[in-house]
Amino acid sequence: MIADLGEWLGLGPYCWEATPFFLAGVTTCLGVIGTAFSERVISQRWIRYRIDLADDLPDSPDVHLTPVTDDIIRALRGHPDHAEHQLRSGFRFWDRGLRRAYVWMDREQPLCIQWLLTGADRARVRTLDEWAGMYPPLVSHVGQVENLFAFSTARRRGVATQFEYALYDEARRAGLRELVTHIHEANAAARGWAERTGWHPFGTITRFQLDVRGLRAYAVYLHSSDDRGGLRLHHTRPV
Ligand SMILES: CC(C)(COP(=O)(O)OP(=O)(O)OC[C@H]1O[C@@H](n2cnc3c(N)ncnc32)[C@H](O)[C@@H]1OP(=O)(O)O)[C@@H](O)C(=O)NCCC(=O)NCCS
Repeated sequence: MIADLGEWLGLGPYCWEATPFFLAGVTTCLGVIGTAFSERVISQRWIRYRIDLADDLPDSPDVHLTPVTDDIIRALRGHPDHAEHQLRSGFRFWDRGLRRAYVWMDREQPLCIQWLLTGADRARVRTLDEWAGMYPPLVSHVGQVENLFAFSTARRRGVATQFEYALYDEARRAGLRELVTHIHEANAAARGWAERTGWHPFGTITRFQLDVRGLRAYAVYLHSSDDRGGLRLHHTRPV
């Protein structure tokens, strides 16, 4: 059974469900503002993906995922990759109490890590400040994976693919029936990984931010569940 993941409007730490009609109106307004103040409006877009865990998905029985602990996070903060965007974002999650994450270790070296959010994380997600609008509340039995990171010494060997198949099993064990995630449209490697691991694109998230002192923290997020919420501005900065 596929959940209705719908349309959402995020602003600062808040997220409201929206109708497609309302979302299209806001997109048009932001497009006009973006055209008039193109130097001051930054927009970025992510592709929303979903996967039904009841589908016939491959598994990787030889991959053992370890739940992340404080000790593991402490070690990772000293890892050569510690300044990479997805790891820093993961550390921020950890610091905000988002503690369900899994790592694949091989001979005490980390190969790949990812966070798994569930509906129980609703309040903690709202503390992610200017990024909170990226995360609409999760409905029952739907989880969200975030901050996938294959360590730089382990790339392009199928590690993130094998990791994800094992993660699907963890998610099923946690009672989840479906997963969602989002990937920056400019992240070709991760989009290739998503296709490889069975994810289906179902919409976009567009983030608008005014590059004006005092307003940068109030990013607007438009979560669309089809392609019509397309990017009207082309001034993107991948993160
Ligand atoms: C994206 C990422 C997790 C992939 O990890 P990986 O272990 O190298 O991926 P895999 O070896 O399992 O590759 C799976 C597929 O991803 C795609 N892919 C991976 N790296 C790629 C690259 N550098 N360029 C293009 N496609 C790539 C390919 O389609 C690949 O399938 P193929 O080997 O049959 O061609 C890794 O590059 C990474 O950690 N990047 C930085 C963090 C990041 O962007 N995370 C995703 C956030 S949503």
